[in-house]
Amino acid sequence: MCKTIDFDKDWMFHAGDLGPVSETDRWGGAKARAFDYGAAAEEIDTSKWRSIDIPHDFVVEGDYTRKPEVADMRDIPEMESISSRHFAGGSLAGGIGWYRKAFDIPSEYDGKRVYIFFDGVFRDSTVYLNHYYVGSHKSGYTGFYYDITDFVNFGGKNVIAVRVDSRGREGWWYEGGGIYRHVRLEISDSLRCAPDGVFVISEIGADGHSAELKIKTELISRYTEKKTVRVVSSVLDNTEEIVAEKEDIITVDEWDSAQCSQIIGLTEFKLWDIESPYLYTLKTTVFCDGRECDTRYTKFGIRSACFDPDNGFFLNGRRIRLHGVCAHQDHAGCGIAVPDSVWEYRFERMKSFGVNAYRCSHHAPSPVVLDICDRLGILVLDETRRMSSAPEDVECLEYLVKRDRNHPSVILWGIGNEEIFSQDRPEAERTTTTLKMAVKKQDPTRPVTSAVVCWNGQQRFDNAAGYVHVTRLLDVMGFNYCRYAWDDYHGRMSRQPIIITEAASNSWTRGCYSTDESRGRYYIYDRENESKCKSGIKAVKKDIAEHELKFFSEREYLAGIFIWTGIDYRGEPTPMDYPAVSSQFGILDYCGFEKDNYYFYKSMWTDEDVIHVFPRVWDKNEFTAYCYSNAEEAELFADGKSIGRKKRNDLGYFSWDNVKCGSSLLVKGYRNGREMYDEARLFSHAHHIELTPYRSKVSAGDTAIVNIRVCDNGGNTVLTADNELVFEISGAGSFLGCGNGDPASHEPDKKPIRRAFNGLCQLLVKADGDGVINIRAVGEGLEDGCCMVVSEQKGDVNGYK
Ligand code: GAL
Repeated sequence: MCKTIDFDKDWMFHAGDLGPVSETDRWGGAKARAFDYGAAAEEIDTSKWRSIDIPHDFVVEGDYTRKPEVADMRDIPEMESISSRHFAGGSLAGGIGWYRKAFDIPSEYDGKRVYIFFDGVFRDSTVYLNHYYVGSHKSGYTGFYYDITDFVNFGGKNVIAVRVDSRGREGWWYEGGGIYRHVRLEISDSLRCAPDGVFVISEIGADGHSAELKIKTELISRYTEKKTVRVVSSVLDNTEEIVAEKEDIITVDEWDSAQCSQIIGLTEFKLWDIESPYLYTLKTTVFCDGRECDTRYTKFGIRSACFDPDNGFFLNGRRIRLHGVCAHQDHAGCGIAVPDSVWEYRFERMKSFGVNAYRCSHHAPSPVVLDICDRLGILVLDETRRMSSAPEDVECLEYLVKRDRNHPSVILWGIGNEEIFSQDRPEAERTTTTLKMAVKKQDPTRPVTSAVVCWNGQQRFDNAAGYVHVTRLLDVMGFNYCRYAWDDYHGRMSRQPIIITEAASNSWTRGCYSTDESRGRYYIYDRENESKCKSGIKAVKKDIAEHELKFFSEREYLAGIFIWTGIDYRGEPTPMDYPAVSSQFGILDYCGFEKDNYYFYKSMWTDEDVIHVFPRVWDKNEFTAYCYSNAEEAELFADGKSIGRKKRNDLGYFSWDNVKCGSSLLVKGYRNGREMYDEARLFSHAHHIELTPYRSKVSAGDTAIVNIRVCDNGGNTVLTADNELVFEISGAGSFLGCGNGDPASHEPDKKPIRRAFNGLCQLLVKADGDGVINIRAVGEGLEDGCCMVVSEQKGDVNGYK
């Protein structure tokens, strides 16, 4: 049997280098068991080290600095205000960090195999165990594992040391640094399923009622003699009842691998769909020498997905328009070390405005992300960062596909994003073919796309002629922006489906109704954006998203659209200059709080009645009032006086110029004969703090999200409040981090003190063990706020059984 051990807890961390600098450091360093020095030595002075748990991001613990070095256009193409890689990276510096962990492996496991799995380390990691060099892995986004059996001290103490160098970058956004995704240890028999070696392909029968499961199980043996093995594949429904089973006998040669192929027919089954994401589990049990030597659980769903050049995308035979968002992988208070429950919160927030698809741009996602998308019914464009056929990059792509191919949520593989220096060149034809074939070898069932921009670094392409020789090789064409190219391309390549892999890129600071670059605040409807921003005309973005969405909705042949982005991320603060350190492209801010345009997408992408008037804060001057709603008509009232009733404009929203208002801005909408209202009022007297936990219970080891409002005495959020709040946590939890969604905040995420930003902020609390966590927020001149969260023992480890 295989034993899985959660390896996230009880690491030591040291910021800065100590050596070994590399696996060949120092004379003799290339010899086995030569790494008995520096951070890799078994006994060292750890007085300057800190205890931490994984996931961990050490870059987010640093201070913001301005580094005005000017970037080459080739470094950061086409971003209005980005002047340096450091600024693009969120004005936080990468660095070197060391992680160590001591652990025992009992002698009863002698003769077993020991593997260590890292879901993601940013980046350039080197692993040492008991003075041996184990391996290096460059990419910060793909997972990796090592068979460490040969280096283990069975029946005694072991020390693992990991050097992480996050100075190098893979992207042009904040990328963080550290062991930021889960780590686990597996102790297995010498005969086991290969990592990610179980693959279930489901095919729905022509009658629509039956299905066939084609199962491939890859086994690896580290026995020195040939073995006869029985492989039992059992299909479990979501109550863990066995609904079908098949067993086969195969032989595995000594120190070799072998594949067992099985077919299981199901006479009835439940579909996985975005509305009812039903998941089955395949239990794989491997018997050898009269023993059960391995058991694996693989979640899968039964569904059909296909892209069509004329009609877009079909899931289970039903046409669905993909209403998608792109997003990076960091969050307020934790950087890239995003706890599982924060991921869940992010996806639930995105789903709340109608998102049914997610592009994990531009990098391999954490496995947790795909588990959540499977559960919530969100379709995924799963992609790699580097469109490169260098062997290491192909390996990373293969690893990604092999790891993720059982997830029913994944419908498309992405092999590149805006490869402007190569995408029109003849080499790109070869690269595209190499990467596409690498994908097909691991997963022949899903199509391959790439996110193409009609620009080659020097010039824009007016039509598809310049790059179609490359893009014709893709199963699905992906366009980033460039809406005027869509029809031309569709005309030339009428048999190739098209998806819009990126669109909009609208910046917006939550709760701000006037642009102020000196404070990093941007209001898309500010008429003076050109003169208020250093990036001039490029900072004028009004209606871009609305036009793109309209253009998209008028073209039935397009499968879907991914808005840049669902949620803010650190870095790339364009079109703002420093002191802004975070992007503002999100429909949700960095804490997941909604911005006004949340209601625009919600009105377009859901059937719910939506009505939202803004600005929510104004002064005595005249202003333009807006309303996002799916009402056909709406009437605005300022202090009870009608300003006029009108129809929704062509772009899908309402506006009224020259509004003067005292304390109440009210809009009344009419939809299908129904009336709906929204009112904005000025609440300026901060009175108390209110804490709302996102969930009242969390699993021990995971994180509670507590959303915080500064309220007036009627319980209304004071949208101008910026009070400094101090957090106190006692009981079964501890402080993890905090944030407020202010794109120019330089306050530390890792100190339990934070200003509210436009009335809101967020606290992350780590659940340490069983029991109650008491959380309090205190602010000068405000009544304290408090709440309670229950921390409970976790059922299964990191989602793995
Ligand atoms: C795209 C790019 C994204 C992001 C975005 C900002 O061109 O693919 O990563 O930089 O622009 O608008």
